[in-house]
Amino acid sequence: MRPLALEVHIELSLQGHWALVGGASQGIGQATARALAEQGARVILMSRRSEVLEQVRNSLPNPTQHRTLALDLERLEDISTSLGRLVADIGHVTIWVNNTGGPKAGPLSEASPDEMERAFRGHVLSSQVILRALLPGMKTANYGRIINVLSTSVRIPIPNLGVSNIVRGAMASWAKTLSLELGASGITVNNILPGFTETPRLESLINGAVAKTAKSEEEVRNEWVKTIPAGRIGLPTETAAAIAFLASPAAAYISGVSIPVDGGRTGSL
Ligand SMILES: NC(=O)c1ccc[n+]([C@@H]2O[C@H](COP(=O)([O-])OP(=O)(O)OC[C@H]3O[C@@H](n4cnc5c(N)ncnc54)[C@H](OP(=O)(O)O)[C@@H]3O)[C@@H](O)[C@H]2O)c1
Repeated sequence: MRPLALEVHIELSLQGHWALVGGASQGIGQATARALAEQGARVILMSRRSEVLEQVRNSLPNPTQHRTLALDLERLEDISTSLGRLVADIGHVTIWVNNTGGPKAGPLSEASPDEMERAFRGHVLSSQVILRALLPGMKTANYGRIINVLSTSVRIPIPNLGVSNIVRGAMASWAKTLSLELGASGITVNNILPGFTETPRLESLINGAVAKTAKSEEEVRNEWVKTIPAGRIGLPTETAAAIAFLASPAAAYISGVSIPVDGGRTGSL
């Protein structure tokens, strides 16, 4: 038996890495871009709104070393072309935070096949296109961190988020399958499952609940907070902190898992 190495060194620095962060114009993606930049990564901020991405980039430490990439993840050909160009220009992208907007709310039984197809394109198919663009670089570097931002609905489906529940389940299975295939290449694949988190997405879900129930915004918020053991809504920086750890060298032996960042709310093991 080999002697155990007892010295502990927790390596959190992302110096020398390029990180692609989806949904970087606001919410969890924006907080994550900042966290990774603060840990030393050079960040590619991706979403549809180029002007907002530029503003976020300019607010990061060392703004000139980061890039923006304006893309609609529902347009698969654009993703392929843009990422091909990017990789040819900068080389390996070894960290990928796979994050985008959630599908429209509503019961599954009322969702049209078109709605479902659009959500699959923007989440599952776009993930596959990005994977194929980044994977060769991760393999060459023998370092890869794929972190998917999903939802606690991976564990327990959420009422009135029908299409989202289906797409998140598919993404969780996609991630687990990849983690089994890629483990030997130094690539980990994990999922972060946000609970209620203070972002524009939460605002729109609250507004939807207000319109449906005739309750006030405060009443809706209070009802939701009552379900959270931590007694409050989470901050996007708290989600970003978990993502930043998974992106680091310290998390090399964590793969194929789904981690709720939800103040203890998810009622499953
Ligand atoms: N906040 C919560 O309470 C909560 C809870 C559970 C799960 N989640 C999930 O976690 C993820 C992030 O949440 P969030 O609250 O930060 O969401 P958010 O505030 O809605 O932000 C979504 C981000 O995705 C980008 N985006 C949307 N559609 C896109 C498209 N077609 N192509 C490229 N980029 C697109 C948006 O930027 P542009 O408009 O610039 O494209 C934006 O930066 C979402 O999937 C959400 O459903 C959130």
